[in-house]
Amino acid sequence: MDFIKFKKNILCANNLPLINLAQKKSTPFYLYSADQIKKNIKVLKSQLKSSKPLICFAVKSNSNLQILKQICQLGLGADVVSLGELKLALKAGFKVNKIVFSGVGKTNDELKFAIKKNILSINAESKNEIMNINTIAKALNKKVNIGIRINPNIKAKTNKKITTGDKINKFGISINDLYDIFKNKHKLSNINIHLLSVHIGSQIKDIQPYKRVLNTISKILNTLRKDKHQIKFIDLGGGMGIPYFKNDTKFKISEFAREVKKFHSKHKVNIIFEIGRYLIGDTGVIISKVTYLKEAGDRYFVILDTGMNDMARSAIYEAFHEILPIIKRSKKFNKKIEFVGPICESSDTFGVYTKYSKLEEGDYICLTNCGAYGRTLSSNYNMRPLIEEVMINKNKLKTVRKRQSLNEII
Ligand code: LLP
Repeated sequence: MDFIKFKKNILCANNLPLINLAQKKSTPFYLYSADQIKKNIKVLKSQLKSSKPLICFAVKSNSNLQILKQICQLGLGADVVSLGELKLALKAGFKVNKIVFSGVGKTNDELKFAIKKNILSINAESKNEIMNINTIAKALNKKVNIGIRINPNIKAKTNKKITTGDKINKFGISINDLYDIFKNKHKLSNINIHLLSVHIGSQIKDIQPYKRVLNTISKILNTLRKDKHQIKFIDLGGGMGIPYFKNDTKFKISEFAREVKKFHSKHKVNIIFEIGRYLIGDTGVIISKVTYLKEAGDRYFVILDTGMNDMARSAIYEAFHEILPIIKRSKKFNKKIEFVGPICESSDTFGVYTKYSKLEEGDYICLTNCGAYGRTLSSNYNMRPLIEEVMINKNKLKTVRKRQSLNEII
């Protein structure tokens, strides 16, 4: 998160003091950095370049149209999981030959649309879905390229709510079922299986599970090759974790890239990634105002005007997003403080701090690393309008999505 930095004790975005911005706007609001997005993409492309991948952006992590347009212009593809995301990706300008579509419950309408558009790959997640795609393709008189998402039965060592590659998870097709499908491929005359995909979860910091994934796919490719089945693409999904606070561990991307390169050189397949958080997580923050300070026994509650409806990650996954004061005072709170939102639930909390810089009512704070799964997980819970999204580009500011009005939701 390079775009947010303290200059002396004043928190700045691209060197602009956030206080100046916060005072001009209604809080809370999202603030994204176009420069950070550009930089993240450039760095990631260079880190992964040895396997010449198609990097698709996981639209579910951030579906702001202006952000998607920027990502598209920088040459990435899109990974979508619904008709809505697919239509949005097309509107943002992504070319159909750079779009992959995953999801365990794609409906006939979604499949029909994707087939008609000739997207790069529809990644199927069950035998019944494959048969359904074949039937729909036949009715449309088409032969469609599909991928099969494998469930490799590998634990990703992350929060259990975002683990997807274990055999108990609903995602993907077991390896035995995969071989079965290939054996009966001749019965599926309207599909061509050109891709295998895998996605074992999200916010993964350890590269060991990825090594096991590469190993598993290697074995599968060797077996399929013996039976003369050709696979053109391997889609390795996403899931690379980011640090959410100072001294949090980092994902060893260069080590990961080396493993992928070895795999790529050995198998001569085209590599695809579906990356969300690692690209966009640190490109956005929420600026929020302290509504009340509430002293309660041995605690202070710092009650913010943002809550779990704007940023649900802490409530759902107990995720810790570091909170920075916009002006750091030398005076400290004399008690533990807990940042909470205004929502009527105890899960509406953003973490406990000791020795935090003193805040007053009306002060502003910055909730960091909200670029991924921030706005996309937000809701109108407690009848709160979705908040404004602002983009900073060098030193220019632009609203990239308006705040919803109360009238719209009433
Ligand atoms: N591909 C597939 C098939 C996925 O399901 C996902 C994320 C991705 C790619 C991108 O994963 P990423 O690179 O962003 O980790 N709401 C949760 C995260 C859910 C992830 C769902 N799938 C959170 O806020 O932590």
